[in-house]
Amino acid sequence: MSRILTGIQSSGVPHLGNVLGAILPAIELSKKMESFLFIADLHSLTTIKNKEVLRYNTLATAAAWLAFGLDTEKNMIYRQSDIPQVTELMWYLNCVTPYPMLANAHSFKDKSNKLSNVNAGLFTYPVLMAADIILYNANIVPVGKDQLQHLEITRDIATSFNFLFGETFIIPNAKTDKHNLIIPGTNGEKMSKSYNNCINIFESEKILKKQIMNIVTDSKSLDEPKDPNKCNVFQIYKLIASEKEINILSEKYKNGGFGYGHAKNELLQIIMTKFEKPRIKFNELMNNQQLIENELLKGSKKAQIIAKSVIKKVRTNLGLS
Ligand code: ADP
Ligand code: TRP
Repeated sequence: MSRILTGIQSSGVPHLGNVLGAILPAIELSKKMESFLFIADLHSLTTIKNKEVLRYNTLATAAAWLAFGLDTEKNMIYRQSDIPQVTELMWYLNCVTPYPMLANAHSFKDKSNKLSNVNAGLFTYPVLMAADIILYNANIVPVGKDQLQHLEITRDIATSFNFLFGETFIIPNAKTDKHNLIIPGTNGEKMSKSYNNCINIFESEKILKKQIMNIVTDSKSLDEPKDPNKCNVFQIYKLIASEKEINILSEKYKNGGFGYGHAKNELLQIIMTKFEKPRIKFNELMNNQQLIENELLKGSKKAQIIAKSVIKKVRTNLGLS
């Protein structure tokens, strides 16, 4: 049976790019195959050093997945740190991981060039990621292109372990989305927390309006006809609206007498309408965080059953108790 697993870094409240690029496609996939989704809070510790921030981000990330209707009867969502076997497995994997493989990883080189605090956690990040995956016998791992090298490292580590200690782990495959949808931000570049160009769909209407009004457009006057395909507002609208709605807005652009302010208002309206239910659900969950904790606990109980059985086999194969 195929088992899908993916980790989500808890680096903040998910924005429109995260929702359209990661959350909704993964929820679609989870309707077809059992999915393990976890909040990678141990990985987040490599950069977040504040307990309130770590806790809030973890809950907000989980709340976003739940708000978009992840079915937690069939699938599971859990905190990485709730399963201690993952850090135990990481140690065993550390002992079969060649040092140069980690030293040459792009993501480590990148981060160690940019950050002032280069801790050992950043260095062994891919080993923890390998443990995350092979601890649950996952065979399909949906990831963005930036994570492909980490998946190659995972496959190498699992293969070495199997070679040295006998068949223990399933060798997982990465799955990248062939459409590779990149959601543009308010300045037309890829929407990202790091570029300060996000539309935060879980924010209040007032803040959302401010973010939408900040979308960069050219300076054509209200009367002039406009090309929708050259407009950042339309590019975002297109990703949310139905075909009929897209055609109607496109005509308004082409006919003239329709300004960018009007287009921005239409975008705000469609976000408020299409995301009305998830916004309500997200706020309900964030106002009653025990509900989120209960879901994470339920997920970790199910995940733990598999983790325990795999770690038992690992210990036996290693010659431990
Ligand atoms: P950010 O760039 O805001 O820090 P992350 O790197 O935490 O976002 O991304 C979390 C998930 O959301 C990843 O699966 C990533 O591929 C997806 N994602 C982030 N931004 C976008 C975007 N602009 N378009 C499509 N997918 C995105
Ligand atoms: N490193 C991944 C990211 O930054 C998150 C992650 C942690 C992950 N463990 C994982 C993804 C295991 C897939 C499988 O996006």
